[in-house]
Amino acid sequence: MSSIFDRRSVNFFDSSRDINDDLLKQIIDLASTAPSAFNLQPWDIIAVRTAEAKEKLHRLTGGQDKVLEAPVTLIVIGNRSGYDGTNPVWKQLEAAMGADGAAGARSMAENLYGSTEERKIKFAESNAGLLSMSIMYAARHFGIDSHPMSGMDFDGIKKEFGLNENQDAVMLIALGYFDSTKDLYPRSPRRAYEELVAIV
Ligand SMILES: Cc1cc2nc3c(=O)[nH]c(=O)nc-3n(C[C@H](O)[C@H](O)[C@H](O)COP(=O)(O)O)c2cc1C
Repeated sequence: MSSIFDRRSVNFFDSSRDINDDLLKQIIDLASTAPSAFNLQPWDIIAVRTAEAKEKLHRLTGGQDKVLEAPVTLIVIGNRSGYDGTNPVWKQLEAAMGADGAAGARSMAENLYGSTEERKIKFAESNAGLLSMSIMYAARHFGIDSHPMSGMDFDGIKKEFGLNENQDAVMLIALGYFDSTKDLYPRSPRRAYEELVAIV
């Protein structure tokens, strides 16, 4: 419960505190238990860590300073073609379900997620969005703060970070430790249950 409630979008990071590779891996390994359609996991992550890469990303976020202050910012990428036969997950499904079962599932996935450009985008973004949320909660589980951002030049990131034609940047997530010399703005109110839930 508290990993969920304690998560906040932290605007100021303590730039003197690093996240080492081992901790980053633990966060991503835990977050990778996120659900995805047919378990296809149509996502990739670029971990922006070096001063040079941070400068580039800072520019592409219109100067959001948390990208410079946080020890690492993740570019969470959704893959619009992640449903197709080149995804190695289909091989695992084939081993589990048999060739006919996997072929049926693949054809269903192609219809559901690959039949229009809009569906491809929805597929990439919905799955990568779930991974993003999972990363932020996993980070909190390990005592790490985060900040999601979609204020970015999507095309610029695609070009400058070498994404392929089917890969789209979906979310940036700065990870690190809140700078306790700063004030965290109060949590904004949320819409009430009665307002957002329709029981039919
Ligand atoms: C998809 C998405 C995009 C966001 N983009 C930005 C952003 O570019 N810059 C920023 O400062 N905050 C951004 N935020 C953070 C939100 O403003 C923040 O989550 C919201 O105000 C609620 O605050 P809380 O996360 O601390 O509860 C984004 C959040 C989400 C979920």
